Amino acid sequence: MKNQNYKPCDLVIYGALGDLSKRKLLISLYRLEKSNLLEADTRIIGVDRLDETSEGFVQVAHNSLKSFLNKEINTEIWDRLSQRLSYLKIDLTQPEQYLQLNAAVDPEKRVMVNYFAVAPFLFKSICQGLQSCGVLTAESRMVMEKPIGHDLKSSKEINDVVEEVFQEDQVYRIDHYLGKETVLNLLALRFANSIFTTNWNHNTIDHIQITVGEDIGIEGRWEYFDKTGQLRDMLQNHLLQILTFVAMEPPADLEAESIHMEKIKVLKALRPITVRNVEEKTVRGQYTTGFIKGAAVPGYLEEEGANKESTTESFVAIRVDIDNWRWAGVPFYMRTGKRMPNKRTEIVVNFKQLPHNIFKDSFRDLPANKLVIHLQPNEGVDVVMLNKVPGIDGNIKLQQTKLDLSFSETFKKNSIFGGYEKLILEALRGNTTLFLSREEIEQAWAWVDSIQDAWAQNHSAPKSYPAGSWGPIASVALLARDGRAWEE
Ligand code: BG6
Repeated sequence: MKNQNYKPCDLVIYGALGDLSKRKLLISLYRLEKSNLLEADTRIIGVDRLDETSEGFVQVAHNSLKSFLNKEINTEIWDRLSQRLSYLKIDLTQPEQYLQLNAAVDPEKRVMVNYFAVAPFLFKSICQGLQSCGVLTAESRMVMEKPIGHDLKSSKEINDVVEEVFQEDQVYRIDHYLGKETVLNLLALRFANSIFTTNWNHNTIDHIQITVGEDIGIEGRWEYFDKTGQLRDMLQNHLLQILTFVAMEPPADLEAESIHMEKIKVLKALRPITVRNVEEKTVRGQYTTGFIKGAAVPGYLEEEGANKESTTESFVAIRVDIDNWRWAGVPFYMRTGKRMPNKRTEIVVNFKQLPHNIFKDSFRDLPANKLVIHLQPNEGVDVVMLNKVPGIDGNIKLQQTKLDLSFSETFKKNSIFGGYEKLILEALRGNTTLFLSREEIEQAWAWVDSIQDAWAQNHSAPKSYPAGSWGPIASVALLARDGRAWEE
């Protein structure tokens, strides 16, 4: 059933012919169309500096679907979607060219949602162009996504530029991980199930692991990636966001402000990593040649366009301590890397071992329970527990077993969407809960900057790991020093 309360929008995509638009936005809009989630009068206006017509843009969108939808294009859905599309050629650095928007959008009838799918150096021109052509209203929104700066200072500069034109409640900062079904499910898991709400603290939890591994390398993005590195590309945003969802206190409700407030508290409580402890608490890695799923792949320094001297990290592992009552003494270990053996994003909550063991015939030390949350792929939740092996012969014999909930098996009729569909929909509907506040981003940068600075001061070179492995040996040692091991 369609909710009739949402106002239709004019979704204007700046950088409509770029990679993000072609690979993600247009595909997600098709999927929203398929699920009947776009309001009937919503229109999509592509803006780019290249010579193109509306018909040409429709063709670009069709080609994108052919390349990236991974499914047959349904003619009826495509007809509906293509009728919404139009194109404007605007050189984003030329203020007078924005006047074309006046004829293209209709702020009286539709909310103008401005999606900045371009590099941040253009944000200032777009904001000024929009302001000078007088097309914005108090209802207008702007959507932007990472990289929102490469450190605290540059992130503030971007936010300042945007703030001159848009109020904070008009700004939608995307982290596409927050649109993922399983990240959202963390709220349900933690705050709707008493077995977890009452056991989610230092009394029962020993430590928590967050792994975001990718088998891909840098996929022709040398320019961007080498300046950025894995810490800034993945940990500053996606992993810290997952961490805040795992660690935050129960919000008063599901409103944006309540959730943002609790996430900021977690970020503020992250113990700083400084030059004194950075070697002990972090590991930087860079992949060398190796094999992924049986195929040989080049090392980081042999990637296309590589600077052979680069010391940029493609892997990072960190021990994070959260200095608050709930998490005192419970380390969070996070690791993320390119060219890992497979794509795997998961959270493992390791509960404490029991103080006494009466099943010594089975285990000298009783293994502790684990809650494993598979964020992607194979979305689901496992509880690793001990069970008696059935049988009447002899003593009670225990075995480790899994309670295993697979989302695709359990919710057969519900499609599991990627992050972008959910986030585009929320931006069109005006709900900021799943977007990042300025304070959150700046808090995350402040913490990450101290790590980056400590590495720079130490001139720390990345440790190598063969492509197709789970990172350098030092990452194993990071946990082994604390008597622990990564979940494999
Ligand atoms: C992006 C990073 O934000 O996330 C990429 O820039 C990374 O380097 C990607 O590959 C991973 O996203 P996902 O949704 O495939 O896990």
